[in-house]
Amino acid sequence: MKAAMVTGKEEVTIRQVDAPIPGDDEVLIKVKTAGVCGSDLHLFHGTHAFRKPPAVLGHEVAGDIVKLGKNVKGYKIGDRVTVEPHLGCGVCEFCKQGLVNLCTAKKAPGTPGWIGTFVEYFNAPAKTLYKLDDAIPYDIGTLVEPLAVAVHALARASAPAKDCIVILGVGTIGLLTQVVAREMGYKTIITTDTAPFNREMSLKQGAAAALNPITEDVVAKVKELTGGRGADLAIVAAGAPGILDQASACVRKRGEIGLVAMITEKIPFYCYSVVFNEQTIYGAMTYETRDFEAAADMVNGGLDLSDFVTQKLSLDRSQEALDLLSQKKENVVKVIVTV
Ligand SMILES: NC(=O)c1ccc[n+]([C@@H]2O[C@H](COP(=O)([O-])OP(=O)(O)OC[C@H]3O[C@@H](n4cnc5c(N)ncnc54)[C@H](O)[C@@H]3O)[C@@H](O)[C@H]2O)c1
Ligand SMILES: [Zn+2]
Ligand SMILES: [Zn+2]
Repeated sequence: MKAAMVTGKEEVTIRQVDAPIPGDDEVLIKVKTAGVCGSDLHLFHGTHAFRKPPAVLGHEVAGDIVKLGKNVKGYKIGDRVTVEPHLGCGVCEFCKQGLVNLCTAKKAPGTPGWIGTFVEYFNAPAKTLYKLDDAIPYDIGTLVEPLAVAVHALARASAPAKDCIVILGVGTIGLLTQVVAREMGYKTIITTDTAPFNREMSLKQGAAAALNPITEDVVAKVKELTGGRGADLAIVAAGAPGILDQASACVRKRGEIGLVAMITEKIPFYCYSVVFNEQTIYGAMTYETRDFEAAADMVNGGLDLSDFVTQKLSLDRSQEALDLLSQKKENVVKVIVTV
Protein backbone atom coordinates (compact mmCIF):
# COMPACT_ATOMS: atom_id res chain seq x y z
CA MET A 1 0.00 0.00 0.00
CA LYS A 2 0.98 3.65 -0.32
CA ALA A 3 2.27 5.60 2.67
CA ALA A 4 3.26 9.28 2.87
CA MET A 5 6.53 9.44 4.78
CA VAL A 6 8.79 12.22 5.89
CA THR A 7 12.11 11.14 4.40
CA GLY A 8 14.22 14.22 5.12
CA LYS A 9 13.93 17.82 6.26
CA GLU A 10 10.67 19.14 4.75
CA GLU A 11 10.63 16.24 2.31
CA VAL A 12 7.63 13.94 1.93
CA THR A 13 7.85 10.82 -0.25
CA ILE A 14 5.13 8.37 -1.20
CA ARG A 15 6.53 4.89 -0.57
CA GLN A 16 5.17 1.38 -0.87
CA VAL A 17 4.99 -0.35 2.52
CA ASP A 18 3.34 -3.51 3.79
CA ALA A 19 -0.25 -3.01 4.92
CA PRO A 20 -0.55 -3.66 8.67
CA ILE A 21 -2.00 -6.98 9.80
CA PRO A 22 -4.54 -6.29 12.57
CA GLY A 23 -3.98 -8.10 15.87
CA ASP A 24 -6.72 -10.09 17.62
CA ASP A 25 -7.97 -6.98 19.46
CA GLU A 26 -7.59 -4.67 16.47
CA VAL A 27 -9.42 -3.72 13.30
CA LEU A 28 -8.08 -2.76 9.90
CA ILE A 29 -9.42 0.54 8.58
CA LYS A 30 -9.52 1.62 4.95
CA VAL A 31 -8.46 5.23 5.41
CA LYS A 32 -10.69 7.86 3.78
CA THR A 33 -9.27 11.04 5.30
CA ALA A 34 -6.31 12.05 7.46
CA GLY A 35 -5.67 15.49 8.95
CA VAL A 36 -2.44 17.47 8.88
CA CYS A 37 -1.62 18.67 12.40
CA GLY A 38 1.02 20.87 14.01
CA SER A 39 2.80 17.81 15.38
CA ASP A 40 3.18 16.50 11.81
CA LEU A 41 4.94 19.78 11.06
CA HIS A 42 7.43 19.08 13.86
CA LEU A 43 8.35 15.79 12.18
CA PHE A 44 8.42 17.58 8.82
CA HIS A 45 10.80 20.29 10.05
CA GLY A 46 12.95 17.83 11.97
CA THR A 47 12.10 19.41 15.37
CA HIS A 48 9.99 16.57 16.79
CA ALA A 49 11.18 15.43 20.22
CA PHE A 50 11.41 11.73 19.38
CA ARG A 51 10.05 11.08 15.86
CA LYS A 52 12.78 11.12 13.23
CA PRO A 53 12.61 10.43 9.46
CA PRO A 54 11.85 8.16 7.79
CA ALA A 55 8.44 8.07 9.47
CA VAL A 56 4.86 7.83 8.28
CA LEU A 57 2.88 11.02 8.88
CA GLY A 58 -0.40 11.47 10.67
CA HIS A 59 -2.54 10.59 13.67
CA GLU A 60 -5.91 12.11 12.71
CA VAL A 61 -8.05 9.70 10.70
CA ALA A 62 -11.47 8.57 9.54
CA GLY A 63 -12.37 5.55 7.44
CA ASP A 64 -14.20 2.25 7.11
CA ILE A 65 -13.52 -1.00 8.97
CA VAL A 66 -12.52 -3.69 6.45
CA LYS A 67 -11.19 -6.43 8.75
CA LEU A 68 -11.84 -7.44 12.39
CA GLY A 69 -9.48 -9.20 14.79
CA LYS A 70 -10.98 -12.33 16.33
CA ASN A 71 -11.61 -10.77 19.77
CA VAL A 72 -13.26 -7.60 18.46
CA LYS A 73 -16.88 -7.18 19.56
CA GLY A 74 -19.36 -4.41 18.84
CA TYR A 75 -18.06 -3.50 15.39
CA LYS A 76 -18.66 -4.88 11.92
CA ILE A 77 -17.11 -4.57 8.49
CA GLY A 78 -18.23 -1.34 6.86
CA ASP A 79 -18.54 0.63 10.12
CA ARG A 80 -17.36 4.21 9.69
CA VAL A 81 -14.97 5.15 12.47
CA THR A 82 -12.42 7.57 13.82
CA VAL A 83 -9.60 6.67 16.22
CA GLU A 84 -8.37 8.06 19.55
CA PRO A 85 -4.71 7.95 18.58
CA HIS A 86 -2.99 6.84 21.73
CA LEU A 87 -2.94 3.62 23.71
CA GLY A 88 -1.79 3.55 27.31
CA CYS A 89 0.12 0.74 29.01
CA GLY A 90 -3.00 0.13 31.10
CA VAL A 91 -1.13 -0.47 34.36
CA CYS A 92 0.65 2.75 35.36
CA GLU A 93 -0.76 5.21 37.91
CA PHE A 94 -2.01 7.48 35.11
CA CYS A 95 -3.65 4.78 32.99
CA LYS A 96 -5.45 3.53 36.10
CA GLN A 97 -7.05 6.98 36.41
CA GLY A 98 -7.97 7.13 32.71
CA LEU A 99 -5.13 9.56 31.99
CA VAL A 100 -3.74 7.83 28.90
CA ASN A 101 -2.42 11.21 27.77
CA LEU A 102 0.08 11.15 30.64
CA CYS A 103 1.20 7.51 30.33
CA THR A 104 4.93 7.48 29.67
CA ALA A 105 4.71 4.12 27.89
CA LYS A 106 1.81 5.05 25.61
CA LYS A 107 1.83 4.10 21.96
CA ALA A 108 0.84 6.54 19.24
CA PRO A 109 0.58 6.34 15.45
CA GLY A 110 3.90 6.91 13.72
CA THR A 111 5.95 5.50 16.60
CA PRO A 112 7.50 2.01 16.45
CA GLY A 113 4.75 -0.62 16.43
CA TRP A 114 1.97 1.61 15.12
CA ILE A 115 1.93 3.07 11.62
CA GLY A 116 0.90 6.71 10.95
CA THR A 117 -2.45 7.54 9.31
CA PHE A 118 -1.22 8.87 5.94
CA VAL A 119 -1.68 5.41 4.47
CA GLU A 120 -4.27 3.36 2.60
CA TYR A 121 -4.84 0.92 5.48
CA PHE A 122 -4.45 1.68 9.19
CA ASN A 123 -4.76 -0.72 12.12
CA ALA A 124 -6.24 0.34 15.45
CA PRO A 125 -7.18 -1.39 18.72
CA ALA A 126 -10.97 -1.71 19.04
CA LYS A 127 -10.85 0.22 22.33
CA THR A 128 -9.60 3.31 20.47
CA LEU A 129 -12.48 3.35 17.95
CA TYR A 130 -15.43 5.75 17.80
CA LYS A 131 -18.27 5.18 15.35
CA LEU A 132 -19.20 7.99 13.01
CA ASP A 133 -22.84 8.39 12.03
CA ASP A 134 -23.64 7.92 8.34
CA ALA A 135 -24.48 11.60 8.02
CA ILE A 136 -21.00 12.73 9.13
CA PRO A 137 -18.56 13.29 6.25
CA TYR A 138 -15.17 11.63 6.77
CA ASP A 139 -13.30 14.95 6.76
CA ILE A 140 -15.46 16.20 9.64
CA GLY A 141 -15.01 12.87 11.43
CA THR A 142 -11.25 13.49 11.22
CA LEU A 143 -11.74 16.66 13.27
CA VAL A 144 -12.85 14.72 16.34
CA GLU A 145 -9.18 14.47 17.37
CA PRO A 146 -8.35 18.21 17.44
CA LEU A 147 -11.82 18.87 18.86
CA ALA A 148 -10.93 16.54 21.74
CA VAL A 149 -7.86 18.72 22.41
CA ALA A 150 -10.23 21.69 22.74
CA VAL A 151 -12.62 19.77 25.01
CA HIS A 152 -9.72 18.80 27.28
CA ALA A 153 -8.32 22.35 27.35
CA LEU A 154 -11.62 23.57 28.77
CA ALA A 155 -12.33 20.53 30.93
CA ARG A 156 -9.07 21.19 32.83
CA ALA A 157 -10.46 24.51 34.10
CA SER A 158 -12.14 24.43 37.47
CA ALA A 159 -13.75 27.86 37.24
CA PRO A 160 -17.49 27.36 37.40
CA ALA A 161 -18.12 30.91 36.12
CA LYS A 162 -18.68 31.13 32.39
CA ASP A 163 -19.16 34.84 31.86
CA CYS A 164 -16.13 35.46 29.71
CA ILE A 165 -13.36 33.46 28.07
CA VAL A 166 -10.39 34.83 26.13
CA ILE A 167 -8.73 32.61 23.54
CA LEU A 168 -5.30 33.82 22.48
CA GLY A 169 -4.68 32.41 18.99
CA VAL A 170 -7.51 31.08 16.85
CA GLY A 171 -5.80 28.61 14.54
CA THR A 172 -7.29 25.12 14.41
CA ILE A 173 -7.08 24.51 18.15
CA GLY A 174 -8.18 28.01 19.17
CA LEU A 175 -11.17 27.97 16.82
CA LEU A 176 -12.25 24.54 18.01
CA THR A 177 -11.83 25.72 21.61
CA GLN A 178 -14.07 28.65 20.75
CA VAL A 179 -16.73 26.28 19.40
CA VAL A 180 -16.58 24.09 22.51
CA ALA A 181 -16.68 27.15 24.81
CA ARG A 182 -19.77 28.36 22.97
CA GLU A 183 -21.41 24.94 23.38
CA MET A 184 -20.50 24.98 27.08
CA GLY A 185 -22.32 28.26 27.52
CA TYR A 186 -19.56 30.87 27.85
CA LYS A 187 -21.46 34.11 27.40
CA THR A 188 -18.72 36.36 26.02
CA ILE A 189 -15.92 34.94 23.90
CA ILE A 190 -13.03 37.22 23.00
CA THR A 191 -10.27 35.99 20.70
CA THR A 192 -6.99 37.21 19.24
CA ASP A 193 -5.02 36.27 16.16
CA THR A 194 -2.41 37.97 14.03
CA ALA A 195 -4.01 36.56 10.84
CA PRO A 196 -7.04 38.48 9.45
CA PHE A 197 -8.57 35.27 8.01
CA ASN A 198 -8.56 33.59 11.42
CA ARG A 199 -10.10 36.64 13.07
CA GLU A 200 -12.87 36.67 10.46
CA MET A 201 -13.45 32.97 11.02
CA SER A 202 -13.66 33.57 14.77
CA LEU A 203 -16.20 36.39 14.35
CA LYS A 204 -18.27 34.12 12.11
CA GLN A 205 -18.27 31.58 14.96
CA GLY A 206 -19.74 34.20 17.28
CA ALA A 207 -16.81 35.90 19.01
CA ALA A 208 -17.81 39.17 20.68
CA ALA A 209 -14.47 40.55 19.47
CA ALA A 210 -11.60 39.07 17.48
CA LEU A 211 -8.61 41.28 18.06
CA ASN A 212 -5.29 41.84 16.35
CA PRO A 213 -2.75 41.55 19.22
CA ILE A 214 -0.21 43.64 17.31
CA THR A 215 -2.36 46.72 16.68
CA GLU A 216 -5.07 46.53 19.33
CA ASP A 217 -5.04 46.78 23.12
CA VAL A 218 -6.32 43.31 23.96
CA VAL A 219 -6.34 43.79 27.73
CA ALA A 220 -8.24 47.10 27.51
CA LYS A 221 -10.86 45.52 25.26
CA VAL A 222 -11.31 42.55 27.60
CA LYS A 223 -11.75 44.94 30.54
CA GLU A 224 -14.23 46.99 28.55
CA LEU A 225 -16.34 43.96 27.65
CA THR A 226 -16.31 42.58 31.20
CA GLY A 227 -17.17 45.76 33.09
CA GLY A 228 -13.55 46.12 34.25
CA ARG A 229 -13.46 42.69 35.87
CA GLY A 230 -11.48 40.53 33.42
CA ALA A 231 -12.18 37.12 31.92
CA ASP A 232 -12.83 33.97 33.96
CA LEU A 233 -10.48 31.95 31.80
CA ALA A 234 -7.81 32.59 29.18
CA ILE A 235 -6.70 29.79 26.85
CA VAL A 236 -3.26 30.22 25.31
CA ALA A 237 -3.41 28.57 21.88
CA ALA A 238 -0.54 30.43 20.20
CA GLY A 239 3.09 30.99 21.08
CA ALA A 240 4.53 34.53 21.34
CA PRO A 241 7.01 36.16 23.74
CA GLY A 242 4.47 38.23 25.72
CA ILE A 243 1.54 35.87 25.55
CA LEU A 244 1.59 34.65 29.18
CA ASP A 245 1.65 38.21 30.50
CA GLN A 246 -1.21 39.03 28.17
CA ALA A 247 -3.20 36.02 29.38
CA SER A 248 -2.67 36.94 33.02
CA ALA A 249 -3.60 40.57 32.41
CA CYS A 250 -6.84 39.53 30.68
CA VAL A 251 -7.96 37.30 33.53
CA ARG A 252 -9.81 38.39 36.66
CA LYS A 253 -8.75 37.79 40.24
CA ARG A 254 -9.04 34.04 41.00
CA GLY A 255 -9.33 33.42 37.24
CA GLU A 256 -7.53 30.67 35.32
CA ILE A 257 -5.04 30.42 32.47
CA GLY A 258 -4.95 27.23 30.41
CA LEU A 259 -1.84 26.52 28.34
CA VAL A 260 -2.47 24.43 25.25
CA ALA A 261 0.16 25.91 22.93
CA MET A 262 3.40 23.97 22.93
CA ILE A 263 5.82 26.80 23.56
CA THR A 264 9.18 25.09 23.53
CA GLU A 265 11.30 28.20 24.01
CA LYS A 266 11.78 30.01 27.29
CA ILE A 267 9.64 33.14 27.37
CA PRO A 268 9.64 35.81 30.07
CA PHE A 269 6.70 35.98 32.45
CA TYR A 270 5.90 38.52 35.17
CA CYS A 271 4.54 35.98 37.62
CA TYR A 272 3.79 38.45 40.42
CA SER A 273 0.43 39.20 38.78
CA VAL A 274 -0.51 35.55 39.24
CA VAL A 275 0.24 35.80 42.94
CA PHE A 276 -1.33 39.22 43.43
CA ASN A 277 -4.53 38.16 41.67
CA GLU A 278 -4.54 34.57 42.94
CA GLN A 279 -4.76 33.15 39.43
CA THR A 280 -4.25 29.51 38.51
CA ILE A 281 -2.24 28.27 35.54
CA TYR A 282 -2.73 24.77 34.15
CA GLY A 283 -1.43 22.79 31.21
CA ALA A 284 -3.57 20.65 28.91
CA MET A 285 -1.96 17.79 27.02
CA THR A 286 -4.03 16.12 24.28
CA TYR A 287 -7.09 14.50 25.91
CA GLU A 288 -8.47 11.89 28.22
CA THR A 289 -10.71 9.20 26.75
CA ARG A 290 -13.78 10.94 28.16
CA ASP A 291 -12.82 14.13 26.26
CA PHE A 292 -12.50 12.15 23.05
CA GLU A 293 -15.90 10.60 23.70
CA ALA A 294 -17.40 14.03 24.27
CA ALA A 295 -15.84 15.32 21.03
CA ALA A 296 -17.15 12.32 19.05
CA ASP A 297 -20.62 12.88 20.54
CA MET A 298 -20.52 16.55 19.54
CA VAL A 299 -19.56 15.67 15.96
CA ASN A 300 -22.14 12.88 15.71
CA GLY A 301 -24.65 15.33 17.18
CA GLY A 302 -24.21 17.51 14.12
CA LEU A 303 -21.87 20.25 15.38
CA ASP A 304 -21.04 22.22 12.23
CA LEU A 305 -17.27 22.27 11.72
CA SER A 306 -17.39 22.41 7.92
CA ASP A 307 -15.82 25.89 7.69
CA PHE A 308 -12.63 24.64 9.29
CA VAL A 309 -11.66 22.25 6.48
CA THR A 310 -10.03 24.79 4.21
CA GLN A 311 -8.10 22.48 1.82
CA LYS A 312 -8.39 18.87 0.70
CA LEU A 313 -5.58 17.15 -1.20
CA SER A 314 -5.04 13.56 -2.25
CA LEU A 315 -2.52 11.34 -0.44
CA ASP A 316 -0.18 11.64 -3.43
CA ARG A 317 -0.05 15.39 -2.77
CA SER A 318 0.96 15.07 0.90
CA GLN A 319 4.10 17.15 0.27
CA GLU A 320 1.88 20.04 -0.83
CA ALA A 321 -0.44 19.46 2.13
CA LEU A 322 2.48 19.84 4.57
CA ASP A 323 3.88 22.83 2.66
CA LEU A 324 0.47 24.51 2.82
CA LEU A 325 0.18 24.31 6.59
CA SER A 326 3.83 25.08 7.10
CA GLN A 327 4.11 28.14 4.85
CA LYS A 328 0.52 29.42 5.24
CA LYS A 329 0.72 31.10 1.83
CA GLU A 330 -3.04 30.56 1.53
CA ASN A 331 -5.75 31.05 4.15
CA VAL A 332 -5.62 27.80 6.00
CA VAL A 333 -7.16 26.24 9.09
CA LYS A 334 -7.27 22.47 8.55
CA VAL A 335 -5.72 20.63 5.62
CA ILE A 336 -7.23 17.20 4.98
CA VAL A 337 -5.54 14.48 2.97
CA THR A 338 -7.99 12.22 1.13
CA VAL A 339 -7.07 8.63 0.41
N1 LIG B 1 -1.61 20.62 24.15
C1 LIG B 1 -1.91 19.84 23.13
O1 LIG B 1 -2.26 18.68 23.30
C2 LIG B 1 -1.86 20.39 21.75
C3 LIG B 1 -2.48 19.72 20.69
C4 LIG B 1 -2.44 20.30 19.42
C5 LIG B 1 -1.76 21.49 19.24
N2 LIG B 1 -1.14 22.08 20.30
C6 LIG B 1 -0.42 23.35 20.19
O2 LIG B 1 -1.38 24.40 20.18
C7 LIG B 1 -0.88 25.48 19.41
C8 LIG B 1 -1.90 25.84 18.35
O3 LIG B 1 -2.03 24.77 17.43
P1 LIG B 1 -2.82 24.97 16.08
O4 LIG B 1 -2.85 23.67 15.40
O5 LIG B 1 -4.08 25.70 16.32
O6 LIG B 1 -1.79 25.94 15.30
P2 LIG B 1 -2.10 27.05 14.24
O7 LIG B 1 -0.82 27.42 13.62
O8 LIG B 1 -3.25 26.60 13.39
O9 LIG B 1 -2.66 28.27 15.13
C9 LIG B 1 -1.88 29.21 15.76
C10 LIG B 1 -2.55 30.56 15.51
O10 LIG B 1 -1.92 31.53 16.33
C11 LIG B 1 -1.87 32.73 15.61
N3 LIG B 1 -0.90 33.61 16.25
C12 LIG B 1 0.43 33.73 16.02
N4 LIG B 1 0.96 34.65 16.88
C13 LIG B 1 -0.06 35.07 17.66
C14 LIG B 1 -0.16 36.00 18.74
N5 LIG B 1 0.90 36.68 19.19
N6 LIG B 1 -1.36 36.18 19.33
C15 LIG B 1 -2.46 35.51 18.89
N7 LIG B 1 -2.42 34.62 17.86
C16 LIG B 1 -1.24 34.42 17.27
C17 LIG B 1 -1.57 32.29 14.19
O11 LIG B 1 -1.93 33.28 13.24
C18 LIG B 1 -2.41 31.02 14.07
O12 LIG B 1 -3.70 31.30 13.53
C19 LIG B 1 0.47 25.03 18.87
O13 LIG B 1 1.47 25.48 19.74
C20 LIG B 1 0.37 23.52 18.92
O14 LIG B 1 1.63 22.91 19.03
C21 LIG B 1 -1.20 21.56 21.53
ZN1 LIG C 1 -3.79 16.42 15.89
ZN1 LIG D 1 0.23 3.79 31.37
